[in-house]
Amino acid sequence: MQSQLGLSIMPMNSLTACTGLPPLLVRTLIHAFTKPGESVLDPFCGGGTTAIESIAHGRYSINSDLNSLACFVTQARAWPLGRNSFRAYLRWLRDAKTVLSFSSSVEAVPLVVSDLYRYAPSTHGILLVLRDSARQLKDAGARRFALLTVLRLGKLAFDCRKNPPNPRLLANSLDAIGATYSERMESYSRICRNRWSQHTRGRARLKVFCTDSLGLHHRLGDLADNVTLVLTSPPYPRVHMLYHRWQVYGRRETSLPYSLLQLNDGMRASGYTMGSRHKAADGPYFRSIEAVYRGLGRVLSGNVIVAQILAFAEPKVQLPLFCEAMERAGFVELLPRAGTRDRISRAVPHRRWYAYLAGTTPSTQEFLFIHRLDSRSRSATVNEWTGKH
Ligand SMILES: C[S@@+](CC[C@H](N)C(=O)[O-])C[C@H]1O[C@@H](n2cnc3c(N)ncnc32)[C@H](O)[C@@H]1O
Repeated sequence: MQSQLGLSIMPMNSLTACTGLPPLLVRTLIHAFTKPGESVLDPFCGGGTTAIESIAHGRYSINSDLNSLACFVTQARAWPLGRNSFRAYLRWLRDAKTVLSFSSSVEAVPLVVSDLYRYAPSTHGILLVLRDSARQLKDAGARRFALLTVLRLGKLAFDCRKNPPNPRLLANSLDAIGATYSERMESYSRICRNRWSQHTRGRARLKVFCTDSLGLHHRLGDLADNVTLVLTSPPYPRVHMLYHRWQVYGRRETSLPYSLLQLNDGMRASGYTMGSRHKAADGPYFRSIEAVYRGLGRVLSGNVIVAQILAFAEPKVQLPLFCEAMERAGFVELLPRAGTRDRISRAVPHRRWYAYLAGTTPSTQEFLFIHRLDSRSRSATVNEWTGKH
């Protein structure tokens, strides 16, 4: 299992620092625990890997994330484009390349970063021009996919770069990204068209809530009835992840991803990781996990399966705490081999350059957890929920 993970229909590396779910594992779990026409729920959707694999394989996809950036990326990646939208995107891509070939005439606008350092004016200026041209696209699907391309270009040019970006790097990157994105979106949309006969049906299968998963069960309504699998990767407890910032020129932080998309940000790093890196954050973190799943356990069907990938800053302490939180929420763990505590695991990919300097640490091991609702505790919680005794 360790080495096979990674083949994907839309292999767009994560657009922020999240460790994307391994597509092949997601596909395997979708086939193992759901049938076509059923729904897969991802309450921490991040870059939308679960959404893409679900829709491409004939399942409804319901997603949530409290990070507006993650919701945009999931919507843009998992929304199959119609032929007209795709043509509109390809026209935009061609025009974008023309803008880059005349980059010297583009107004230079410095990117002001965390310590007010003014950075890469010409490259940043070009990104803003490309962003504005993408926003002018009338077709919603093409506009979103073009903005996703600009976001990816911005990440490649700015995030964790040792050397400042320049317009020539941007031009080369746009060629590469444009080619990969159009080829992948074309194949994904074709798969959806073939699978759903008209791709619009594929589109109607995607739902994205920009909300805190703590209150998600209040928003699902009758969408919950058809959910047979919750497939997700919550933030890792006390593991440092930057879901909402790019780091330029060493580790100066910038909210450029949000300003590029003109999205609301407004939270500190710990707001996106369900708590800080301090030991004291464990209590609130595991109480939140319990509350999220207790809420979902009340509204989802009794035979729902929950599959999650997590890593821990301190597995010896936190892994048992996670299992207890799921138990208190009314779920029973299904282990690969009964009677053993062996779990499927892998090393965390896509770590930032400075994380690799730390070498192999406890938090570089991700574990797969599979749970089902405990029917005994379910009747108790549902009665509690519906007030029946
Ligand atoms: C590990 S990432 C998910 C990665 C995703 N599975 C993928 O394949 O790209 C965790 C996500 O949880 C989101 N998140 C953190 N706290 C949340 C909360 N309380 N409610 C909803 N989403 C939350 C973060 O914004 C982040 O996108």
